[in-house]
Order: sequence, then C-alpha cells, then structure tokens
Amino acid sequence: MKVSFTDLGLVNTREMFAKAVKGGYAIPAFNFNNMEQLQAIIQACTETKSPVILQVSKGARNYANQTLLRYMAQGAVEYAKELGWKKPQIVLHLDHGDSYEVCKSCVDFGFSSVMIDGSHLPYEENVALTKKVVKYAHKHDVTVEAELGVLAGVEDEVSSEVSHYTKPEEVIDFVKKTGCDSLAISIGTSHGAYKFTPEQCTRDEETGRLVPPPLAFDILKAIEKKLPGFPIVLHGSSSVPQEYVDIINANGGKLPNAVGIPEEQLRKAAKSAVCKINIDSDSRLAMTAAVRKHFADNPGHFDPRQYLKPAREEMKKMYVHKIINVLGSQNKAR
Ligand code: G3H
Ligand code: 13P
Ligand code: ZN
Repeated sequence: MKVSFTDLGLVNTREMFAKAVKGGYAIPAFNFNNMEQLQAIIQACTETKSPVILQVSKGARNYANQTLLRYMAQGAVEYAKELGWKKPQIVLHLDHGDSYEVCKSCVDFGFSSVMIDGSHLPYEENVALTKKVVKYAHKHDVTVEAELGVLAGVEDEVSSEVSHYTKPEEVIDFVKKTGCDSLAISIGTSHGAYKFTPEQCTRDEETGRLVPPPLAFDILKAIEKKLPGFPIVLHGSSSVPQEYVDIINANGGKLPNAVGIPEEQLRKAAKSAVCKINIDSDSRLAMTAAVRKHFADNPGHFDPRQYLKPAREEMKKMYVHKIINVLGSQNKAR
C-alpha cells in the first residue's frame, strides 16, 4: 500500500531550502540507524527549534530494516510534538539512493525526499537516471537531491581513489535537464572519519594535530554564480572532533590520524548557497566515545540502558552544538 509523506506528518525540502538559502544557514541532515540516535536528534532539534532532515542510508536499511526506520521517523514526528514542537519540520530522506527502484520504493513508502546518486556514472547516464527519478518523485511532491562530482573515499558502494571536484560548467545543464531540487557537489569533503591522509595535511606546531587542506571554496563560488539561489548540498561534513578521538583512543580504541572538516569552514559554507550539511560520522564518534568511557569507568555494567543513556546524551550535545555553532539553523522552524 502506498503512503504519502504528508500522512506521516513529514515535510519535503522545498520550503526549508528556499528559506535556508535566503537566510544564510544550512539544514542539518543527520543519519540515523537506531532509537538512541533518533531520540537525540529529535530532542536537540526540538530544543533549538531547528528544522531537520533524517537520513536513511543503504547501510541503515540493511542494519535496521527500512520498514522499521520509516515507522521510527513517523514516531519521531509524534515524539517531537510530545516534547512541545507544535508543527515539527521533519524530512525523511533517502541518503545515496543507488537506483530508480530504491527511490521509487521510498517515495511509495512515505519518504518526503530522496537522493539519487548517479555521481559515479558517465554524465549523460547520471542525467537520464536523475531525470527519471525526478519525474516519479515530483508526481508525489517528493523532492530530489542529485549529485555531480565524486567525493573521495567510500560512498556506500561507490568508491573513488581521488576526489573529482564538481565541474561548474556542467551544473546549469544538469539542473535544467534533470529538474532536481538540490545538488550535492564535491569540493573536497569526503565520507567517514579519515577524510585526509596525514600527507595531505600540515601539522599544527603547538598541538601536533593534523590540519587538513581547505575546501575548494572557489568551486563553490563558481557554482553559486552559475545557479544563483539554487540549493547546494555538502556530504561528508563531519568535523571528527578530536576530543572524541582522544577519549576513544584513551579507552581502548584505535583511531590513528582520524581527521575531519574544520568547523569554521562548514560555518562559511552554511552561509552560502549550501543549505544541507550531512553529518553521520560525528554521531558515531560521540556514541563510541561515551560508551568506551562508560565501560572504562564502570566495568561491572551490563544493562545497555546504563551505557546507551550517556551515549544518547553525548550525541544530543553534539547535535545542539552543530545546529547553534556551525549550521545556524536554530529558531528557524516555524
Ligand atoms: O554516506 C555515508 C553515510 O555516512 C552512511 O553510511 O552506509 O555506513 O550507513 P552507512
Ligand atoms: P560524514 O561521514 O562526514 O558524517 O558524512 C555523512 C554523509 O555525507 C552522509 O551522506
Ligand atoms: Zn553522503
């Protein structure tokens, strides 16, 4: 049976993005795979009055089951209302959809937004696939994110050794031909907790920490010039907070040289046409740091609620920080 996202109390990204581009801030796009993550996201967004995009990846669907995740998102809307958010501005988004069939099934199942990631395909094939998804999704008022340019690292099953920045000269033609609602671009971000090799970084003399190379803001500017006011998306935007990496490493973990995108660069991006910023790895790090510390301090604990509670609190703290100090989306939900 087909379900419309409006029946679930969800919204699509159209109005949200228009306001974000105009207002110079970005909407948080947080991945979720489990209940504690979802609770932390909803608590953080309700408290800060931030609109939010809940993202479901292929990995999440394999781990938790798509049906369960969709019902959890529906539950999240009711949970937000219970917490006092009268009209929750929540999008349920398919992250890195890899086929027309997957996108269609999510549209039919109540997702309010889908990404079709044809970035690894030859240009014309990416255009054709994206166009097909847009045609179906728009019939149901579901918004579509597309991608041009390839991020370094692993994009679900799409992998690339080097980053291929988005070519600004292609974006007008792509958006015109496909009718997509937003465009993910490659300007030097990448997925995961190891975004740059030590060789690509310099070292801060005082702290000894790795300092990553800057994002290609010249490319972002050139894209903005070609597509004024068009919503741009940044994937791979975790900052890999070194406090978490240190806690993990001090409590039995091993994450050598984990490094992310400095927050000041994301702040700068959020003020531009970038209106959706994807964060997943930072949530994983917050959770793992809290759990590892909890076990080190409480070796006798074995009730999952004992260690998942601090994990949830740490994730919430991190989400609130991103919303207020990086994205600027607080108080932007109607
Ligand atoms: O795009 C990558 C996201 O972080 C999702 O990762 O496929 O391991 O859930 P995942
Ligand atoms: P991070 O791995 O940097 O959190 O990126 C997540 C992402 O882009 C999900 O699509
Ligand atoms: Zn991504």
